[in-house]
Amino acid sequence: MLNDSPITIVGGRQLHGEIAINASKNAALPVIAAALLTAEPVTLHGVPRLSDVYILLDVMAALGTHHTWVGANSLRLHTPAVTCVIAPDELVGKMRATFLVMGALLARQGEAVVAPPGGCTFSQRPVDQHLKAFRAMGAEVRVDGGAYHATLRGSASGSVVFDLLTVGGTQNAMLAAVLGDGDVTIDNASIDTDVMCLADFLNSLGAVIEGAGTHTIRIEGVPALRGGDFRIIPDRIEAGTFLAIAAATRSRLTLTNVIPSHLRAVTGKLRDMGAVILETGDVIMIDARDELRAVNVTTSEYPAFPTDVQPQFSALLATVGGTSVVVDRIYPGRTTHVAQLHRMGARAELMGETQIIHGGPLQGTTVQATNIRDGAALVIAALAAEGESTIEGTVYLNRGYERLVDRLRAVGADIRQCGEQAALPFAVAME
Ligand code: EPU
Repeated sequence: MLNDSPITIVGGRQLHGEIAINASKNAALPVIAAALLTAEPVTLHGVPRLSDVYILLDVMAALGTHHTWVGANSLRLHTPAVTCVIAPDELVGKMRATFLVMGALLARQGEAVVAPPGGCTFSQRPVDQHLKAFRAMGAEVRVDGGAYHATLRGSASGSVVFDLLTVGGTQNAMLAAVLGDGDVTIDNASIDTDVMCLADFLNSLGAVIEGAGTHTIRIEGVPALRGGDFRIIPDRIEAGTFLAIAAATRSRLTLTNVIPSHLRAVTGKLRDMGAVILETGDVIMIDARDELRAVNVTTSEYPAFPTDVQPQFSALLATVGGTSVVVDRIYPGRTTHVAQLHRMGARAELMGETQIIHGGPLQGTTVQATNIRDGAALVIAALAAEGESTIEGTVYLNRGYERLVDRLRAVGADIRQCGEQAALPFAVAME
């Protein structure tokens, strides 16, 4: 359905024009999983057409959710009854966010069987905090046949204190806690934008969740959730990627459909580098046509600099004269892009897991993406490099970036991909 053939880019062209940012993949996935909580239909607007979304929809179809695309990016979900509490292993193993069905199944059915999730392989990504949260609110969790079996007799209630800030753990705990007649408090909760988006969605269906966006979230169980309509927030990671593209190609670009306050760590860093950034309403204009300076980047939990924009910034910094140091505190091993940047002539070293980048010109060549964000980093490097590059492994780009080739071509990039871009399957009725 999505075109996985290699992308070819002739770099060195300045870009210009406007790009509309899509809704957030990482905000959409938990909201889609949350549709398991209600017997009423929900319609989500701004759902990106990405392979991760399709995989989660397949998992939910196996659990009893019917879905229909009712517009290019509008998705109707309906789970009149949960028909199965066992998530299919082979699908759960394909990505991380599938694990969020566990909290929703526990809340609605009191039982869930979900295998350890897959996802990008740049780091160990345990689910111990998710399981700890379920136990803290009264569930029994055991491991059997390679899957986690959780049961919850009665309503979720109790106090969850996370050992670290986890976006998915906080979301799974919220999903497990919203139904019933118990109260749950979550301390050391993630304050990520995607946690706030999920709380806003659940509250719009009648849940009682207070404090999302702070480190203490209080949830009062309700007997049932109703249906409704909801719009997913803009993707700050996609916006961060296009800002890095603008800077790496020394261009002036205007991004629309953004929430500038979600991007302060990224725009602040670009200002430190010497780019001009103007923000008006839901628009960010970046002008990076003057000389840029090297900077150091350290990722941490929101609102700090996001790990999901780290590889893209490494690629950008590889084009900027001077020495930059990049440290990823969330996923220290998220450095798969470095070896590929070497192939393009980047002078980037790994000292342990710290990237030391001496910026300079890059040369086009053939490189291989191995996950969503290192794929985006390679696109950025190729757009900035002299000559032609071919990026293989575009299956990963399709997990995070909708119609990337068309959108980059529209702002002047010399980019092409073999094979026709398949038409979007509108109104693929599953009901
Ligand atoms: N962690 C644990 N135990 C847990 C949960 C997390 O040790 O039970 C650790 C992780 O290993 C990591 C840190 O805590 O070191 C933070 O992980 P978090 O739970 O916040 O991440 P996630 O919810 O699994 C989401 C995004 C990731 C993004 C991270 C961090 C989705 C589907 N994924 O993952 O996105 O990197 O938050 O912001 O929302 C991507 O889009 O490329 C991507 C990988």
